[in-house]
Amino acid sequence: MSNSSMLQISDQFDHFQIRQHMAKGGMSDIYRAYDLLNGQEVVLKIPDRMSIGDPAQFERFQRELEVMRTLNHPAIQQGLGSGRYNNTPYLVTGLIDGQSMREIVRTSAPMPPEEAISLIRKIADGLAHCHDHEIIHRDLKPENILITSDGQPIIIDFGLALTKGAHRVTYANLSAAAGTPDYMAPEQIEGHRGDQRTDIYALGVMLFELLTGNPPYTGDNNMVIMAQHLKGAIPRLDKVKEGISPQIAAFVAKCLQRNPNDRYADMHALIAELDNLDAIDVSILERATGAAAAAPFWRSPVFVSIGSAILLLIIIVILALILQKIH
Ligand SMILES: Nc1ncnc2c1ncn2[C@@H]1O[C@H](COP(=O)(O)OP(=O)(O)O)[C@@H](O)[C@H]1O
Ligand SMILES: [Mg+2]
Repeated sequence: MSNSSMLQISDQFDHFQIRQHMAKGGMSDIYRAYDLLNGQEVVLKIPDRMSIGDPAQFERFQRELEVMRTLNHPAIQQGLGSGRYNNTPYLVTGLIDGQSMREIVRTSAPMPPEEAISLIRKIADGLAHCHDHEIIHRDLKPENILITSDGQPIIIDFGLALTKGAHRVTYANLSAAAGTPDYMAPEQIEGHRGDQRTDIYALGVMLFELLTGNPPYTGDNNMVIMAQHLKGAIPRLDKVKEGISPQIAAFVAKCLQRNPNDRYADMHALIAELDNLDAIDVSILERATGAAAAAPFWRSPVFVSIGSAILLLIIIVILALILQKIH
């Protein structure tokens, strides 16, 4: 078997029987499979057609397994094994019966604030556990979080994770595989390794998306989106969406600060604030929107809308005059 995407239902791959093609990831195909050795239902992650020959892939899966084995938390994916079959490396993880957070965003966002906060709080718990073990996820996005039917989020895909032992793997040489820039912190866009505050940024983006249905920065292409992460005004959530308290807006704004030093220092500080939302200092909102206020007045939304209205009026008057002339 040299081409994993050719795997069909009931094919045998090493000691697994393929049951279903579940998903296509950034660089891999995900299959539900049956372990013929112990009768367990598992998930196989196998490099896709594009990355099948990549010699780094085996090492990457091994690292991913090592990361999962270091961690033990209800919000973290369980790793079962890794191997190589006919020169194709693969990763085995426990089957999670649930929906991806991408689906939740599609079907349920904008979400009531209490619901969104409760979900983010559980993800933050898992991330605190990661960070306490000096593991930074670095690829948090709704596709990499699965949510079980009883509402437990489970963080998956540690393929880009930074561990204290793996300084060789910089973000820069993996970022090509990272896909969407929607959740990328400015320091990642600039090619730095990142730290726990990089995950805090992505968590802020996800909360913003749960509450509004869209990430804070959108655009026609990745370049435009990246530029906004680096330079755009941080949107004020309580202005973007009705019914969001200034405290929640301030929390998100603090996560989305461009300079990591201005964000929460670590996941525990973030959780402490989440657990005491009413007490959050909202003064950051004035500072966070400073960039928007500093834009030239003729580009302010008010000026643009008044300007367009006047222009439209002038056009109508001219048209009316022309029509009168013709008659
Ligand atoms: N253990 C699992 N249980 C259920 N679904 C999974 C599991 N692992 C992965 N998936 C599905 O496969 C997709 C891709 O998996 P992921 O590990 O993120 O691969 P990639 O590194 O290629 O992005 C996920 O978004 C999820 O929908
Ligand atoms: Mg993924």
